[in-house]
Amino acid sequence: MKIQHWLIGGVLITAGMAVLLKESKWHRQFVDVTARKPAGRAGRRFYKDPKGHYRSFAYLLDKLALQPDEHFLDICCGGGGLLTRALRIVHYAAGLDHSADMVILTQENNPQAVAEKYLDVRQGDAGALPWADATFDVVANANALFFLPAPVKVFHEVYRVLKPGGRFALITAVKHKLVEIFFGLWSPMMTLYTDDELTAMLREAGFSDVEVYSPDGMYQIGYGVK
Ligand SMILES: C[S@@+](CC[C@H](N)C(=O)[O-])C[C@H]1O[C@@H](n2cnc3c(N)ncnc32)[C@H](O)[C@@H]1O
Repeated sequence: MKIQHWLIGGVLITAGMAVLLKESKWHRQFVDVTARKPAGRAGRRFYKDPKGHYRSFAYLLDKLALQPDEHFLDICCGGGGLLTRALRIVHYAAGLDHSADMVILTQENNPQAVAEKYLDVRQGDAGALPWADATFDVVANANALFFLPAPVKVFHEVYRVLKPGGRFALITAVKHKLVEIFFGLWSPMMTLYTDDELTAMLREAGFSDVEVYSPDGMYQIGYGVK
C-alpha cells in the first residue's frame, strides 16, 4: 500500500473516531493534553520540537518582518518554537501560555535567553495579559485561535499591550470542510472563522490595516496594526 493510502486511511479513521467520541470526557481530555492545554509526556513530546508547525512559524515571521530592536510577545506559545526563531532576530521576547508544562518547556527550549533574561515566559490566560499597556512592538499567536473561547477579548488585550503602530499577526486554519476532516479528533473542539468573521473581530478590537488571507488554502493569517 502506498504512503498516500495510509495517510488517507489515517485521516478517515481519526475523523470517524471524532464523530463517535464527540465531546465525551475522554475526548475533551485528549484534546486538552495534546493541544488545548498540553501537559504530561504526550504534550511535552510533541511541543519539544513541533515539526508540523514549522511552516506556520515561517509564514508568521515572514508577515511580521521583525527588526532586532523590537520587543516581541508570543501568546499561547506552547513549547516556545516560534520564540526560538524570533530570538534569532530580536534581542528581547516574552511568551505566555496557560499550561504550566508549556511554560517550563519554553524555558528549557530557550535556556540561554532565560538565563540572560532576554526571554520572559509567564503562565497566564491570553484574555488577561500580565503586561502593562504599550509594552510590545509585535505580538504573535500561532495555532491557538481555534481554542480561544473569547477571541475578541484576547484581541483587545493584544491591542492594549502593543505600542502605537505595533503589529499583530496570528495564524490559524482556514474554515473549510476538508481542513476540519484533516484535524480529525481535534476538529470538534476547534472554532474556525471565515476571512470576513476574523476581519470583523480584529477591527472590533481596534486594529487598523487589517488583512486576513490564506497563503496556501490550509492556513489562515490575520494581521492588524495598532
Ligand atoms: C496547538 S498549541 C500551539 C502552541 C504553539 N503556539 C505552536 O504553534 O506550536 C495551543 C497552545 O495554546 C495554549 N492556550 C490555549 N488557550 C490558551 C489561553 N486561553 N491562554 C493561554 N494559552 C492558551 C495551549 O496551552 C497550547 O500551548
